[in-house]
Amino acid sequence: MIIAVDGPLASGKGTIARHLANRYDLPYLDTGLLYRACALGVLNAGKDPSDPEAATISARKVDNTVLNDPELRSAKIGAAASRVAAIPSVRKALMNFQRDFADQTGGAVLDGRDIGTFICPHADVKLWVSAPAEERARRRHKELCARGEDISYAQVLEQLIERDARDAGRDDAPMQCAADAHLLNTGGLSIDAAFEAAQRIVDAAKAERP
Ligand code: CDP
Repeated sequence: MIIAVDGPLASGKGTIARHLANRYDLPYLDTGLLYRACALGVLNAGKDPSDPEAATISARKVDNTVLNDPELRSAKIGAAASRVAAIPSVRKALMNFQRDFADQTGGAVLDGRDIGTFICPHADVKLWVSAPAEERARRRHKELCARGEDISYAQVLEQLIERDARDAGRDDAPMQCAADAHLLNTGGLSIDAAFEAAQRIVDAAKAERP
């Protein structure tokens, strides 16, 4: 079973995807980390994340070994990730890694922006996770403060609005809800309530399968 979980920044998609992977005993890939690793590589090389050549060279080097670096979770790398992610040759370089992960025996859970629309249009279950921008900004601000980052709520909200617009507005595989995705708004929901809602969607989809 392939489960695709898409949605904007800090919507809760990662937490939900991880939970579903545990619940159904499936491997999990946070595809945002691939773009973040690509961005880190570009910045470490002293290049601009919007430079297609530098970003593509970096994307081709991304593999499992670089995905555990805690630096990937910083606000700076998140912003740079959305810049490299707008470059078509970067998306192409990272595509097979994601598709191979999804196609492993037994299936997988992947979260991102274009999993249900582009990477795995054949996924068995697709979820589109959303929440109001202010609530997402509050969550991300809390996470970044817990990481020790010196960033205000207003800065997080500003970056979030900018990143959402860039992710949804790019030409290549923009952030988009798949036509056959189940909508899950996590606004005002506790984590447990969001897990339950996601599980209900997956169980119903499983029950419908031949
Ligand atoms: O965790 P957060 O929602 O902040 O972001 P992420 O999932 O780690 O993704 C970082 C950036 O990578 C996003 O803003 C997107 O620009 C890009 N991304 C993408 O284009 N496609 C994906 N499947 C996953 C991430």
